[in-house]
Amino acid sequence: MRIEENCFIKERHTFRMPVYARWFVEYDTVGDLISLLHSDLLRNHSFLPIGGGSNLLFVHEHYDGVLLHSVIRDVTVLNETDSEVLVKVGAGVVWDDFVAHCVSNGWGGAENLSYIPGEVGASAVQNIGAYGVEVKDIIHEVETIEIATASPRIFTNAECEYGYRSSIFKHALKGKYIVTAVVYRLQKNPRLHLDYGNLRHSLPEGDITIADVRRAVIDIRRSKLPEPDEYGSAGSFFMNPVIPVEQYEALKATYPDMPHYEVDSTHVKVPAGWLIDRCGWKGKEEGGAAVYEKQCLVLINKNNACPGDVVTLADKIKQSVQQTYGITINPEVNYIE
Ligand code: EPU
Repeated sequence: MRIEENCFIKERHTFRMPVYARWFVEYDTVGDLISLLHSDLLRNHSFLPIGGGSNLLFVHEHYDGVLLHSVIRDVTVLNETDSEVLVKVGAGVVWDDFVAHCVSNGWGGAENLSYIPGEVGASAVQNIGAYGVEVKDIIHEVETIEIATASPRIFTNAECEYGYRSSIFKHALKGKYIVTAVVYRLQKNPRLHLDYGNLRHSLPEGDITIADVRRAVIDIRRSKLPEPDEYGSAGSFFMNPVIPVEQYEALKATYPDMPHYEVDSTHVKVPAGWLIDRCGWKGKEEGGAAVYEKQCLVLINKNNACPGDVVTLADKIKQSVQQTYGITINPEVNYIE
């Protein structure tokens, strides 16, 4: 276990802004986490479990608490049959390293989620998703420690109450449990999901393998999203809003080219990137922060941004989308006070 005081965490969150944390703690085992939960450090100060810091916006330049980072990185096959594999993965494993591991073993299910930044623990909290797949589709169980009692609890997939970029850990049980490992169920003869957006067009003709899908997804993401060493960002900054069908129909009369995806018989999802783009935000800057030219859903740290620049830019965008379309867009990133 490592405890650092007054830690400069620019490289610990993907926005890469100059932020200090009063403490930064890394633990290697579940036992260490349990000891920490009994310690004065965590009893007397606010704390926040973080993964790769890819979905966080530190709102101030000082975080006056303890950042807790898991480096539990075991990968264990729990059960394997002719058709599937159950694999338990430590919360601190880098998500895309796990996807690469699955693909190289011929285990299907995670390939559409290639190249998403972040770590395994956060994948289960955030229900990361891309190209028609969400991580909930392959999660079997989530292993956690309850903060109040420092005791283990396993959540089944159903108990996690997954929705679009949401889970029970972001809502009813927010701040109550820390994920220590996730058990995924992967398929040896997977059904491929190729129908989202331009994925199929990016694939070769003929028989497609999960390795082909991984390669295509990585290519698309690289063309639309900033490379981590190009600009700091947190991927999609806003969630795509879900609106009633009637509201969509009314808007469509004025904006016939507004894209949408059906959610259920009464709701549709509208791409926030499109709304932001059409409000004229592409490339706009606020201090050192900017709207990414190739994908308006992404806010970037273009030129030594400070947290206030990103907060102001996001507020202005939200207001302008609200005024133009009457649609409320909400951040996907978690604001940390
Ligand atoms: N669009 C624009 N202008 C833009 C951006 C998008 O007109 O600046 C239009 C596109 O042309 C397209 C539509 O909006 O018609 C949707 O855009 P796209 O498919 O690029 O992305 P998205 O649906 O908005 C979601 C996820 C991404 C994920 C992609 C692919 C959310 C908030 N974002 O984006 O997730 O990679 O689908 O599945 O759901 C992330 O969470 O960090 C992330 C990148």
